Amino acid sequence: MAKILITGATGFIGSWLVKNLIKNGEHIIAHGSSDESINNFKKNLENENLSFEKLEFWRQNFLEQEWIFPDFSQIKNVIHCAAATKVREGIIENYDRYFSLNVQATKKIAKKAIENAVSHFVHLSTGQVFGIPGSFPIKEDTPKNPINLYGTTKLIGEYVVKSLGILGLNYTIVRPFSIYGEGHYNIISIIMDKINHNDILTIYGDGTQSRAFLHVNDICSAIGLILNNKECYSEDYNLSGLREYSINDLVKIISNKLNKEPRIVYKESDVNELTRNIADLSKIKKLGFTVKESLEDFINQLN
Ligand SMILES: NC(=O)c1ccc[n+]([C@@H]2O[C@H](COP(=O)([O-])OP(=O)(O)OC[C@H]3O[C@@H](n4cnc5c(N)ncnc54)[C@H](OP(=O)(O)O)[C@@H]3O)[C@@H](O)[C@H]2O)c1
Repeated sequence: MAKILITGATGFIGSWLVKNLIKNGEHIIAHGSSDESINNFKKNLENENLSFEKLEFWRQNFLEQEWIFPDFSQIKNVIHCAAATKVREGIIENYDRYFSLNVQATKKIAKKAIENAVSHFVHLSTGQVFGIPGSFPIKEDTPKNPINLYGTTKLIGEYVVKSLGILGLNYTIVRPFSIYGEGHYNIISIIMDKINHNDILTIYGDGTQSRAFLHVNDICSAIGLILNNKECYSEDYNLSGLREYSINDLVKIISNKLNKEPRIVYKESDVNELTRNIADLSKIKKLGFTVKESLEDFINQLN
């Protein structure tokens, strides 16, 4: 039986991929790091009107020494989402965890994939690998100079995957920039919560840093176009939304929607942050990709 392994299926993008791929009739092995996160994930799935006959789970904390892998002989594709994912955790105390998850665990899983002749290893990297380039929008061949721990370890993870590509792994690197959607505690939900509860909203820097947000459904569609496409082997794709919003823009849009004044405190950032993050979508568009969802529509339907 040809199954798809999704690592980090309990996370934001992974959980949406599971739902999307099950709708397409795929058999999924959904990975999470703990019984607790898998149980929470199962509870969330109960609210969905989906059939879960073709869903199984793999619990493995990648920081543990001993790993028990699922049966890889039945796995046709791997989508590797699991990672340490927070820009703001870029301090020395987190170095070992970021390196273990974003580099060493990636190596272990990609190596297992090549040893078991997996058809396609789709690796989720990040737009953070580019740092602050000289020009925008960011193309796949724009020089990569990450400026924080997250971006640096994700870039090393890319090279790990590429090194196994040289040894025969069929891989594709997908670089989401800033993803939004339901079920994700991110800048949009934080601003919403703070304004709604009349709490102080801390903005790091001057709020002019911008992001081109892309809806999680759009990233799932892009991965869907890549997954069974041999033309994508050894390729990389940058993925962002079409329009940049500064943090100040977002606060304005959300406070207008809530009809409430925000209580903002600007604070100097304690980690290196990107000033802009927008992708050139020309390459992914050649696969038929289009951005379907709008950030403003998403905000307008929130309560
Ligand atoms: N969301 C974005 O805006 C965005 C932007 C750019 C790139 N990306 C990339 O897309 C991928 C998915 O991102 P996401 O936002 O979905 O991340 P997320 O919500 O933070 O989920 C991270 C996943 O990694 C797993 N994980 C964390 N620590 C682990 C450990 N010790 N052992 C095993 N698994 C562990 C988590 O499992 P548990 O929950 O079970 O602990 C979770 O399933 C990542 O590779 C990220 O770098 C995301």
